[in-house]
Amino acid sequence: MKSAEIRQKFLDFFASKGHQVVNSSPLVPGNDPTIMFTVAGMVQFKDVFLGFDKRNYTRATTSQKCLRAGGKHNDLENVGYTARHHTFFEMLGNFSFGDYFKRDAIHYAWEFLTGPEWLAIPKEKLMVTIYASDDEAYEIWNQQIGIPTDKIIRIGDNKGAPYASDNFWAMGDTGPCGPCTEIFYDHGDHIWGGPPGSADEDGDRFVEIWNNVFMQFNRDAEGVMHPLPKPSVDTGMGLERLSALLQKVHTNYEIDLFVALLQAAAKETGVPYNQDTPSLKVIADHIRACSFLIADGVLPSNEGRGYVLRRIIRRAVRHGYKLGQKSAFFYKLVATLVAEMGHAYPELVQKQAQIEDLLKYEEELFAKTLENGMALLDTALAGGKTILDGATAFKLSDTYGFPIDLTADVCREKNVSVDMEGFEIALNTQRAQSKAAGQFKAVTGLEYDGSASVFHGYTEHSREAKVLALYKGNEPVQVLNAGEAGVVVLDHTPFYAESGGQAGDVGQIFAGNILFDVTDTQKVKSDVFGHQGMLSNGSLNVGDTVTACIDLAKRQASQRNHSATHLLHATLRSVLGTHVEQKGSLVTFERTRFDFSQPRPVTPAEIAQIEALVNEEIMRNDAVSAAEMSFDDAIAAGAMALFGEKYGDDVRVLQMGEFSTELCGGTHVGRTGDIGLFKVVSEAGIAAGIRRIEAITGSAALALIQAQDSEIKTLAAMTQSKPGELAAKLEKLQAELKSAQKEIQGLKGQMAFAQLDTLLGGGLRTIKGVKCLGAIVEGADGAVLREMSDKVMDRLQSGISLLASVSDGKVSLIARVSKDLTGRIKASELVNFVAQQVGGKGGGKPDMAQAGGTEPENLNAALASIPAWLTEKL
Ligand code: ALA
Repeated sequence: MKSAEIRQKFLDFFASKGHQVVNSSPLVPGNDPTIMFTVAGMVQFKDVFLGFDKRNYTRATTSQKCLRAGGKHNDLENVGYTARHHTFFEMLGNFSFGDYFKRDAIHYAWEFLTGPEWLAIPKEKLMVTIYASDDEAYEIWNQQIGIPTDKIIRIGDNKGAPYASDNFWAMGDTGPCGPCTEIFYDHGDHIWGGPPGSADEDGDRFVEIWNNVFMQFNRDAEGVMHPLPKPSVDTGMGLERLSALLQKVHTNYEIDLFVALLQAAAKETGVPYNQDTPSLKVIADHIRACSFLIADGVLPSNEGRGYVLRRIIRRAVRHGYKLGQKSAFFYKLVATLVAEMGHAYPELVQKQAQIEDLLKYEEELFAKTLENGMALLDTALAGGKTILDGATAFKLSDTYGFPIDLTADVCREKNVSVDMEGFEIALNTQRAQSKAAGQFKAVTGLEYDGSASVFHGYTEHSREAKVLALYKGNEPVQVLNAGEAGVVVLDHTPFYAESGGQAGDVGQIFAGNILFDVTDTQKVKSDVFGHQGMLSNGSLNVGDTVTACIDLAKRQASQRNHSATHLLHATLRSVLGTHVEQKGSLVTFERTRFDFSQPRPVTPAEIAQIEALVNEEIMRNDAVSAAEMSFDDAIAAGAMALFGEKYGDDVRVLQMGEFSTELCGGTHVGRTGDIGLFKVVSEAGIAAGIRRIEAITGSAALALIQAQDSEIKTLAAMTQSKPGELAAKLEKLQAELKSAQKEIQGLKGQMAFAQLDTLLGGGLRTIKGVKCLGAIVEGADGAVLREMSDKVMDRLQSGISLLASVSDGKVSLIARVSKDLTGRIKASELVNFVAQQVGGKGGGKPDMAQAGGTEPENLNAALASIPAWLTEKL
């Protein structure tokens, strides 16, 4: 039975039992920072289990894209070495939200697996596990289904803590969880492995195919279990494992979904196709994970989800390298994957070109350091070492881009372990050093447990406040004296603290003769604002009443840039497409910097269009308004939220006319017209698939345009043209210059060649029967000198010549020896004899050699020394 057919049968079965068929959600869970990736079918229903969200169905079934490569559920390091582990896989699941519970869940599972019209798996091949204390599940399996007692295994807390058990399933460290019952398939005694719970359970004989979780609790951050509003059911069955069983193959890598991928991996790495080659399995697995991740909006980077993606790509590339493939190959597998899975997952087809481009770029990036890193690793392990030291592992990661799990993967192949403790020490030392180097920005590290600061800066620019805490450097103090740098925490403040990409405010805090210059504002905690700067006068005490006043001109400039960023974001999506997603931003009073996903450079014509549209919005002069509302209401109102970002329950929605609605806590202009003028200053790529636009607004934009205008006018005056004709004029001047240079070149040659007869007449000597010429050619450059030496040798037929010239304070030398004489002397010997006397060195062939020198003042003497030298040599 084909995998596609199994997938369909599963959904049909549960649809026939009243379940709503729901689409797979993306690999990146929406608005849930507690997990990195969708690790199971239940992730998209998490809030339904917790009672926070309601659907218009109480039973659902899905075939869900999953990724287990980071965090609590991580199978990355097993991939390639076992029959059934994957990073990316498809999970078939059925769910009950307070509807049916244990009895029906078990009956449905059994009917689907063994029913003659469904999968018809022989009952005697199946066995089950239950959570040790779950007598109810035991009863159902034994009494109602008829599973013999020796095939029901109770598994208790076998992972060293209460509820830490193979039969107690949790999505993450917090969230919904509960006891489970798992169904195993016995592949037969010809395969090594023991039943679940036995010492040999890791073997491939008994394979878990289906997990039925009885969701009963919500675990909080302290580990306390709170009963769920309604007991529910969450199940998960790996499609690949089920296919292996039904297609009667031993490993998941032999099923229909993988065969073509393994063949393509073999072809692109240039090795014979073999299902048992671990590296081919790794590559076939990883191309799925990487392609689906990119299709779902993840881009390779050095942190978070992007780093997991980068690690998987590098692991695949390293395995290709191991098979002997040193050039980019991985991206070529995307086409095969699209052919295999594109019909079930159309996002792969849509994003194929983007996925290929990104993978190719990443492969080429890593190729630059892979070879040297491998050489370092080989050297470190030479002599049969069994442990790789932490410092080398760190260097590999820091300098050569080897993620630590990639290093561990290579070491494992060589039966070497990695000194992880040493690696962590090296890593932490470096972190501490870079923190020390970047000191003082780190307001976030300050100790503070006083009350919060109230922010008034949306409407006020100056405000009376009380000093709640003071820091000298980052030490808490009661008083700050003139000349000391530190941080001031106030109870009320108009200063905006850096967040959401907008830089912190600058300004002054004062009272009487006390003056503190604020050079930055950062959050000490989410609701505590640290005003950073230096006390330039008086002494400031905790408890003092002061006036806090922002630098209004700078703040207004920041606001113009921030509001323009929102307009830019909306415009990019309309000009380039909705694939544009914000990947980072920095708004200061000087400019805005906006990073976004975009596979190719933005053309100059598109930039012009973007500028025009943003300026149109500015001229429309729409009101800018902000409103607080719940996250869900904001999304329903069409607000743009950042993918994967954590938002609180209540959010601030910033609206600019009809044009832009975004979640944003920043400060903004009152009407779009306040922005004045918007001008892009640069566009560039900063990482694979990410572009950066920098832009300026208001008077800064005007100043730039004025400066450019004045430069153009100066250029026009210098070239005796007009601004509109400058390009044509410069083109003409360039052509004239080129032809003049050519003419000069020709004349120089002629002048040099005119010296030929004189040189041959005056300088030619015969030494031991050989005609020899040593001479300076006036006004010749390297090319003319070479041509002259041809002419000299034409005349001499048999002989030796050394010609020299001086231009720009440098000596050029060329030595020639006719072929019949190269047995007696070589041109390179002669040229070096002269070159070393003029501060140079040269080389070449026996009949022609060239050199340069830096001491023209010694040239005459050097030439004069030739005859004596030749007399000896010849
Ligand atoms: N959520 C359960 C699992 O992933 C079904 O095993």
